Amino acid sequence: MTRTPVSRRLPDFPWDQLLPYAATARAHPDGVVDLSIGTPVDPTPAVVQQALRDAADSPGYPTTLGLPETRQAAIDWLARSHGVTGLGLDGVLPVVGSKELIAGLPTHLGIGPGDLVVLPEVAYPTYEVGAALVGAETLATDSLTAIGPRTPALLWLNSPSNPTGRVLPPDHLRKVVQWCRERGVLLVSDECYLECTWEAEALSVLHPSICGGSHEGLLAVHSLSKRSNLAGYRCAFLAGDPAVVAELLAVRKNLGLMMPGPQQRAMVAALDDDDHAREQHARYAARRGVLKQALEGAGFAISHSEASLYLWATRGESCWDTVAALAEQGVLVAPGSFYGRAGAQHVRVAFTATDERVAAAADRLA
Ligand SMILES: Cc1ncc(COP(=O)(O)O)c(C=O)c1O
Repeated sequence: MTRTPVSRRLPDFPWDQLLPYAATARAHPDGVVDLSIGTPVDPTPAVVQQALRDAADSPGYPTTLGLPETRQAAIDWLARSHGVTGLGLDGVLPVVGSKELIAGLPTHLGIGPGDLVVLPEVAYPTYEVGAALVGAETLATDSLTAIGPRTPALLWLNSPSNPTGRVLPPDHLRKVVQWCRERGVLLVSDECYLECTWEAEALSVLHPSICGGSHEGLLAVHSLSKRSNLAGYRCAFLAGDPAVVAELLAVRKNLGLMMPGPQQRAMVAALDDDDHAREQHARYAARRGVLKQALEGAGFAISHSEASLYLWATRGESCWDTVAALAEQGVLVAPGSFYGRAGAQHVRVAFTATDERVAAAADRLA
């Protein structure tokens, strides 16, 4: 019997389609301005680097549960910066970057064929990858009524959104929480851009005004990658319903999914320090301003984009035409179709590039 490779179950890895445009953009005499991916480029904060160095001696195994100090730092940060109350040490679990958690969650929860996973209409692709891996059905919609009478096994929210930068209003969040609770649906809210807000305030699903003070049936996913330029460290955590956290812990500890000890110490330093996050926020705000003005000057309309690290831009044409035209100018952006059919006329422009490269993009667009 020949086995079907697992990779066949997964959606096509779309980035390969961008390679010819990347080659065009790289041929620009002043070099490429790569705004296609949201990878941080500024230094990892000194306070976090020092914490990692101080924790370098680490001969023993870390635990999947994580250090109490690491979980407490997550609780304290959520309380201090995001008004989350009622979270105990049993409601937090460190994960090895949030992508790992997102892709593995349906597997770890025993979701499978015949189950439905609901994700945003235009979405970070890994929600679909996780569902496809276990053979679950997916529905990409922002409308609860579109789900009909079915009871999903899992419903993903992502506010602020990658790629659109949209922040879901509190009323919408409350409605989704209530809908999920009435049906016993697990609601998982990917909040990795919660602090990357520019023209809106974003609330965690665990905020008492959204969840009514109980975390039952709710998980929030947080990542230090963007807030603290820590994508290389793989520092993230989930927080919420202790019963769900306990089940995930019971599964994940059998799989060796543990955040390395030195990274756990580094995450404490990152969560405890707000100064570097404020500095980084100001850098991104300035880059966003420059690019937004340049894109609007070049005839683009910016949709949503009130938060996250992206401008969701359209010229009312196929996203691939926009990608091609910008590549000719040496600017590489991501086609909206990577994120769902509804993105077919948008491009996603990341502002995670240096000031110098952002200025170069603005010059080229002028
Ligand atoms: C919406 C969203 N969730 C999760 C991630 C993964 O972040 P990480 O694995 O670095 O924590 C990203 C990365 O870009 C993202 O955009």
